[in-house]
Amino acid sequence: MKRAVCPGTFDPVTNGHVDVIERAAALFDEVVVAVALSPDKGGGPLFTVDERVALVQGAISGLPNVTVRPFDTLLVELAQQTDATVIIKGLRAVTDFEREFQMAQLNYRLDPGIETMFIMSVPEYAYLSSSAVKEIARHGGSVAGLVPDAVREALVARSKQSR
Ligand code: PNS
Repeated sequence: MKRAVCPGTFDPVTNGHVDVIERAAALFDEVVVAVALSPDKGGGPLFTVDERVALVQGAISGLPNVTVRPFDTLLVELAQQTDATVIIKGLRAVTDFEREFQMAQLNYRLDPGIETMFIMSVPEYAYLSSSAVKEIARHGGSVAGLVPDAVREALVARSKQSR
């Protein structure tokens, strides 16, 4: 039984995240998508952690070996608690590399029994990020094709609320 943990802030989940989760689910017996509270990221997340968990759950409902849970601990602690031996991260471009390299090194130092592995983004999602999607939605632009439909609807609803 090989279990991987796929962590992120997922504020909100994008089609790029879904692609990485689907590909991880094809490689491992079980994948735990771990949604970090990340209270300080980018001035605070747009969606609560429970909303982000629900949006990821909706996006991966067709994948029987994937579960979603919130976390607010060290990532290696969550991996230990869930018996996951691999951390899966998506890598879009060289610009992601430095931060991901640092996190992988730190996590390895904290627990050398847990390996970080990277799944390279497909080209059509290499430019895609949660922050870009939020900015487009905030200005009333279309995010169709960039995020799951339920996320698009949640972004539209949230943009209306904050006007
Ligand atoms: O989607 P993000 O914001 O790039 O995800 C970052 C995340 C949540 C994976 C990272 O911040 C994280 O692992 N947070 C948990 C705390 C932790 O373990 N920090 C030490 C590793 S650098």
